[in-house]
Amino acid sequence: MFFDLLPPARVVCAHRGARSLAPENTLLALEKAVACGADCWETDVQQSADGELVIFHDDTLERTSDVAQRDMFATRRPWPVDAFTLAELRSLDAGSWFLAADPFATIAAGEVPEADFPAIAAQRIPTLREALLATRARRFPMNLEIKDQPGKSGVLTIVTKVLDLLRETGAEELVLLSSFNHAYLAEARRLNPVLPTAALVEEAHPDELVPYLRRLGVVAYHPDAKITDPDLVRAVVAAGFRVNLWTVNDMERALAFFAAGATAVVTDFPQRLRRALQSLPPHGDG
Ligand code: G3P
Ligand code: MG
Repeated sequence: MFFDLLPPARVVCAHRGARSLAPENTLLALEKAVACGADCWETDVQQSADGELVIFHDDTLERTSDVAQRDMFATRRPWPVDAFTLAELRSLDAGSWFLAADPFATIAAGEVPEADFPAIAAQRIPTLREALLATRARRFPMNLEIKDQPGKSGVLTIVTKVLDLLRETGAEELVLLSSFNHAYLAEARRLNPVLPTAALVEEAHPDELVPYLRRLGVVAYHPDAKITDPDLVRAVVAAGFRVNLWTVNDMERALAFFAAGATAVVTDFPQRLRRALQSLPPHGDG
């Protein structure tokens, strides 16, 4: 399963793929994550208007596609992902925005080679099926976040669909399922008790955290690094859970979490975290 395929510690997880080197949540971002030495990638799944599973982060399409420039979609502002069919989503350019916005200033810094620009501009919104097939082809483990479906949090059918697709694509053993919606995780456990799950948390840790995680049956805790310190990591690890932090772009802080026993750090800069780790003695030596 997911963790068996990874190093035992100091795992570099590329947030939405290597999103500082390629447009987030695209197949190119997955390729760049592999190429820069990440150990795995995190990505987000949600549903189109016609119930297809697609890889996309925001609730709306504006930031990471050309939807706002397309006359045919002008009346559909604010362009919610779940109001667009798969065919409409696939017609969007999901890459050129990255070249225009340079969201991590990596283009200005020369970290994104010009030779990559045509491939960047050619990116489309992937289906979950495509992403799982690429994950399997690369044997590159995936931390799959099921996004809370806006207005439909209580509808658990997305979990069934995701699990069916994991089985169909043969990618099951490569996936860790995570969500801020813990009802999705409970449903995943009910349907497939073997598939590892992780509880995402932001803003505040649940009361009675360890008993809470035990009741939920997750193998990992994924708190926002902003609300987490190394002592909390130590306590949760001592209770028998993996702890994986997000989103850590300060490499010193990432190393401090690893030193406290965190298994993985989710970062927008997997290339930098890999380099920071290469300058340390091998794990176990200090
Ligand atoms: O899975 C960690 C992280 O991706 C959760 O936040 O908003 O980037 O999906 P977000
Ligand atoms: Mg996510």
